[in-house]
Amino acid sequence: QELELKLEMLEKGGYDHFMLKEIYEQPRSIRDCLRGRIYPEEGKVQLGGIKEFVDKLKNIDRIIIVACGTSWHAGLVGEYLIEEYARIPVEVEYASEFRYRNPIITEKDVVIAISQSGETADTMAAIEMAKEKGATIFGICNVVGASIPRLTHAGVYTHAGPEIGVASTKAFTAQVTVLTLIAFYIGQQRGTITSSKLIELLTELDSIPDKIQIALKSNDIVKEISEKFKDSRNCLFLGRGSGFPVALEGALKLKEISYIHAEGYPAAEMKHGPIALIDEEMPVVVIATKNSSYEKVISNIQEVKARKGVVIAIVTEGDIEVKKMADYCIEIPDANEAFLPLLATIPLQLLSYHIAVLRGCNVDQPRNLAKSVTVE
Ligand code: AGP
Repeated sequence: QELELKLEMLEKGGYDHFMLKEIYEQPRSIRDCLRGRIYPEEGKVQLGGIKEFVDKLKNIDRIIIVACGTSWHAGLVGEYLIEEYARIPVEVEYASEFRYRNPIITEKDVVIAISQSGETADTMAAIEMAKEKGATIFGICNVVGASIPRLTHAGVYTHAGPEIGVASTKAFTAQVTVLTLIAFYIGQQRGTITSSKLIELLTELDSIPDKIQIALKSNDIVKEISEKFKDSRNCLFLGRGSGFPVALEGALKLKEISYIHAEGYPAAEMKHGPIALIDEEMPVVVIATKNSSYEKVISNIQEVKARKGVVIAIVTEGDIEVKKMADYCIEIPDANEAFLPLLATIPLQLLSYHIAVLRGCNVDQPRNLAKSVTVE
């Protein structure tokens, strides 16, 4: 038994939990995911896995993304990126809903299935259905040789390495990275991104692993904030644009490992209902980084403060305006809006981790959850 314990310690690489180890692995896992796929000086993205479908990709009318849980959140970020850079309409579907509807799918559609494990039953069934209707299926998977990569026509592995913690962390950021690459790749092929813009974007993407390393330095402040909120019963996460799926992911992480009720909302939707929940007991985590929706998010923070809500804001390094209003601020490095989800997710992963540890929860194996859901 002692040997088993020692082995486990070794596997965790000195961290108390796999989840923390996997959070800290992200600079490396993203680097691995990018390796051999981006050429910043030439402004070129290369995706061997889907290369033979390049003509199809140039002419498609629509992309449908299917996934579950955290992978579905990555899909929502993908929708934002693909529509922005490849100018193709994207629909993001819960695999479990999609498979039981009678969706309109044609041979012209490309379905992207996202799954860390590559074994999720609902995602597999959604793929099978779309395949029967003639769609081309791409997979974004982490586990090499799993069932989903075998069911799809082509795909791109995330190369995040084995993820042991039930709460998905490094797999999520790797999925978002692959979707970013797909958006740029299609944009490059369709001519919807200029080569100078692509050079600029890829140069910055290449620096994202280093920026994630900096974002991880928020760990101490996040831990202090976690002490204050460990006994909260509810928590709201707000974001706009691609900050919205980040908010959803932050809320899912918190609820699955700390058992605190948490909800993610588009910040502007707050006034259509959730605002009624806000009082001095309610922490509201806001993605308030400097991007196109910055000013709008500031008004949302004012709305929360006017109702005595407690605001924890994720802000861009050097921010002054939000700091005047929010109760707590966590800084992340500045980045092009395209890469903000990758950075803003980091403090939220740490927040859920520390709160769960402080509450004495089993972080790596939360109750009632399995790493891959192979039954429907
Ligand atoms: C994530 O933290 C969850 N444990 C869960 O939502 C997960 O993302 C979902 O079950 C999908 O799994 P997959 O990516 O392996 O298909």
